Amino acid sequence: MCGIFAYTGKGTKDAGKVLLHGLTALEYRGYDSAGIYTPESGSIKTPGAVAELKKKVPKKFNGKSGIAHLRWATHGEPTKINAHPHSDCQGELWIVHNGIIENFKELKEKLVKAGHTFVSESDTEVFAHLVEEHMKKTKDFEKAAIAALKEIRGTYGMAIQYKGEPEKLIAARMGSPIVLGVGKHEHFIASDASPILPHTKKVVFLEDGEIAVITPETHTVYKLEGSRVTRAPEEIEWSAEEAQKGGHEHFMLKEIMEGAEVIENTLRGRLIPEKGLAKLGGLEGVTKKLAKIDRIIIVACGTAYYAGLVGEYMLEEHAGIPVEVELGSEFRYRKPVINEKTIVLAISQSGETLDTLEAIREGKRRGALTLGIVNTVGSTIARETDAGVYNHAGPEIGVASTKAFVSQLVALALLTIFLGRQRGMSLVEGKKIAKELKALPAKVQKIFEEKGAIEKLARKYSGARDFLFIGRKYSYPVAFEGALKLKEISYIHAEGCGAGEMKHGPLAMIDEKFPTVALAPSDSVYEKVFSAIQQIKARRGPVIALATEGNREVEKIADDVLYIPETLEMLTPILSVIPLQLFAYYFARNKGYNVDRPRNLAKSVTVE
Ligand code: AGP
Ligand code: GLU
Repeated sequence: MCGIFAYTGKGTKDAGKVLLHGLTALEYRGYDSAGIYTPESGSIKTPGAVAELKKKVPKKFNGKSGIAHLRWATHGEPTKINAHPHSDCQGELWIVHNGIIENFKELKEKLVKAGHTFVSESDTEVFAHLVEEHMKKTKDFEKAAIAALKEIRGTYGMAIQYKGEPEKLIAARMGSPIVLGVGKHEHFIASDASPILPHTKKVVFLEDGEIAVITPETHTVYKLEGSRVTRAPEEIEWSAEEAQKGGHEHFMLKEIMEGAEVIENTLRGRLIPEKGLAKLGGLEGVTKKLAKIDRIIIVACGTAYYAGLVGEYMLEEHAGIPVEVELGSEFRYRKPVINEKTIVLAISQSGETLDTLEAIREGKRRGALTLGIVNTVGSTIARETDAGVYNHAGPEIGVASTKAFVSQLVALALLTIFLGRQRGMSLVEGKKIAKELKALPAKVQKIFEEKGAIEKLARKYSGARDFLFIGRKYSYPVAFEGALKLKEISYIHAEGCGAGEMKHGPLAMIDEKFPTVALAPSDSVYEKVFSAIQQIKARRGPVIALATEGNREVEKIADDVLYIPETLEMLTPILSVIPLQLFAYYFARNKGYNVDRPRNLAKSVTVE
């Protein structure tokens, strides 16, 4: 989710400087706070940018080893006290961590009972005290770290340091990347190779469930259960910038390809499949109020608005709650009928979109309960809403929103289960949705296997200046999102349209130069979309159909077909958007456009 960097050497380099430069190389990952620790100089941390941290690090701050962190907050606001590195009670054990410790609450209760004093709200701090607790028994740093790792559930990429053995650093990986740098009389631990490359190109990538012990001269890798791992270092030829993108050409592609992991991170700790329930910690304070609400108004902009339209179908069909979805920029000019039984729900990746924020403020003024589905912890919308659900999708760098949209749909499905099971949703239905949500990451990976075919398709249609995207019901918002992805990074005309709306006007545009992307998954409205495709073909319009695996009928009329695996109708948008994101990406990349920073657009629109 964010960035860690650690260093151990023989003193020829100043660890303080090495670590600060390393954090600068990791800044691209997006973050909200920064911190550094060396045994010789202690720890300094701050909310805000690395530049802020640098201002606070005194000239004499030095050392032969140390750890550093860029935080993307998931538990606890982005404040100084919640920033990493975190330590145990004695300030002997220090940790920097990327990821989420899912069972931190139960561990914290146990450790408080054992007499540990906590200073922060971060889940990460728990681990430092856990190692401390084990050190009391094992008197051995490595054994204590391993014992503690075996107790935690969740994701981590971490570096751990013990003041009593300053040369030694321990790294551990589970679900959050960790790479070792193998230098001459020095070693490194980092979230990716970018901070390591100025020192050495020899790296060792850790795999999930592995830990590594490094000293200036050595690195040892082994599995958590103890078996030794022999993995020769590899020379990487990437530039620092390529390393930042995980070897992908653009952040947008990297973030699309994170889709499966993002679904897992959004779901983490939030499903009780055997009971068909969703557990949303951010709503605990308002659970009773939520049981009484009788209407939801979703307010959002752009991609988040289309996620809201999908949520409308989910919540009405499976939670039985009336929903309307409003553009943040329009909501404020209406006189919405709102009372204490109304929820105004904001969806926002950045949590700073002013149109959405003003809509929330308007809803609050009129007495609504305000909720947020937000990706950026501690953002304005997250702070001004009464309660909410964080996406845990990690920072999204590309201006075109991709993984955040996938995460928003998953969060809306969780909210549907949460509210539905308070109402008429049966145990069986709750279990069915929960089971299918857990099966989605593997299905997304299957779609990624078709990446090459999608790139070829983008090339085939590269001459088109206009595109229509059509869909019905759950695919209707996805059609608009697919059009938005394409237009905002390739600057051509692309518009969404209800498949049933074609005959009311848009069909007039169709000719052999005007392709249509038709979302035709095997769902309750498939036949209707199929006939819309026939109407287009009758006007010689090219059609790229998106269909469910196994549907051979659609191949007979469409010019090209993109397939997605089968899933529940309400979850189909989580799969169907992926090929559209890839199509838009390759279409724009093949034109040589700046995919990550399209012209005229900003990542977060904080003006009205
Ligand atoms: C989508 O790709 C665009 N970047 C834009 O429409 C974006 O979704 C919109 O500005 C809302 O941003 P938010 O989710 O941060 O509120
Ligand atoms: N969950 C930890 C926190 O909120 C780490 C977040 C991160 O990956 O930066 O402090």
